[in-house]
Amino acid sequence: MAGAVLVRRMVVVVAIAALVAPGEVAAQLTPTYYDGSCPSLQSIVRSAMAAAVQQEPRMGASILRLFFHDCFVNGCDASVLLDDSSTITGEKNAGPNANSLRGFEVIDSIKSQVEAACPGTVSCADILAVAARDGVNLLGGPTWAVQLGRRDTRTASQSAANSNLPSPSSSAAALVSAFASKGLDSRDMVALSGAHTIGAARCATFRARVYNDTNISPGFAVRRRQVCPASGGDGNLAPLDALSSVRFDNGYFRNLMGRFGLLHSDQELFNGGPVDSIAQQYAANGAAFSRDFVTAVVKMGNISPLTGSSGEVRSNCRKPN
Ligand code: HEM
Ligand SMILES: *[C@@H]1O[C@H](CO)[C@@H](O)[C@H](O)[C@H]1NC(C)=O
Repeated sequence: MAGAVLVRRMVVVVAIAALVAPGEVAAQLTPTYYDGSCPSLQSIVRSAMAAAVQQEPRMGASILRLFFHDCFVNGCDASVLLDDSSTITGEKNAGPNANSLRGFEVIDSIKSQVEAACPGTVSCADILAVAARDGVNLLGGPTWAVQLGRRDTRTASQSAANSNLPSPSSSAAALVSAFASKGLDSRDMVALSGAHTIGAARCATFRARVYNDTNISPGFAVRRRQVCPASGGDGNLAPLDALSSVRFDNGYFRNLMGRFGLLHSDQELFNGGPVDSIAQQYAANGAAFSRDFVTAVVKMGNISPLTGSSGEVRSNCRKPN
């Protein structure tokens, strides 16, 4: 009798394991991970993010991007937060990150408040996951239960940051394949790209598009050239969503319908290619975008976490213990 129950239980375990996509270890993370050990985690992160976003709404975007750039480089393990040192070549100076990623001080400040409340307990990787969720929600986007229990890596990989993070000159096919290699399908890729409904990009990342692309609204190209000279002004900013860059809505997709995508890679999602119908659906239906974004961002957060006794809980997010 007990044997039959055990066998049945093993069958269930094997069946569940088969459902989890490669690159995910979903079963090991849980939203309740710190409920006993750090009950104040959620409220500490929420108030710190509320203050940061109130001071500068763009910070919600910057922290969400940090989470993406963490997860796509050897998993969500806080590798992106490590500074360069004599023993570590960090990811902060990789091509997609240098002079671009921001928000590290906000994560540092949250980490010190969390350390004061629950010393040595909450990983930097988990703090980033919760802070990213709160940034989205504070800018009017959805909320979700964040899976927790990630640990922090002791190493970083600048070369993986250079090769795994998608470039703004990517084609739709290249984007599909970059996300597929992380266990994320086309629908996840398009929904996650909707993160560009908030935040800003530097001229260097959209210059080629506004001067040379043909699938761009001519009036929009002229306006963006005014902030982005043909040479110089690399750091000049433009909103990724011309309609509402401090509001997490489906404006990004409505822009694409009018050829108002700021990055070449943005407009690739609606350019007669393989994912047009998904972009169209999100432009027409904000609730569908919101729902699929939540599904996809939770999946992204499950990319190769360190769990159990792997890695460590850093005491300072910028360096290993
Ligand atoms: C699909 C492939 C993607 C490409 C090629 C891409 C590329 C870029 C580029 C070039 C910038 C401007 C950076 C700068 O000028 O300094 C940017 C900004 C941003 N990206 Fe992406 N991105 C992609 C996907 C994502 C995803 C999946 C997320 C999050 C889920 C995300 C979130 C953001 C945010 C929020 C900003 C604005 C950051 C700020 O204002 O500080 N991106 N992205
Ligand atoms: C536009 O394309 C031309 C011809 O390929 C190239 O010489 C020029 O550098 C490009 N301009 C930008 C801003 O990318």
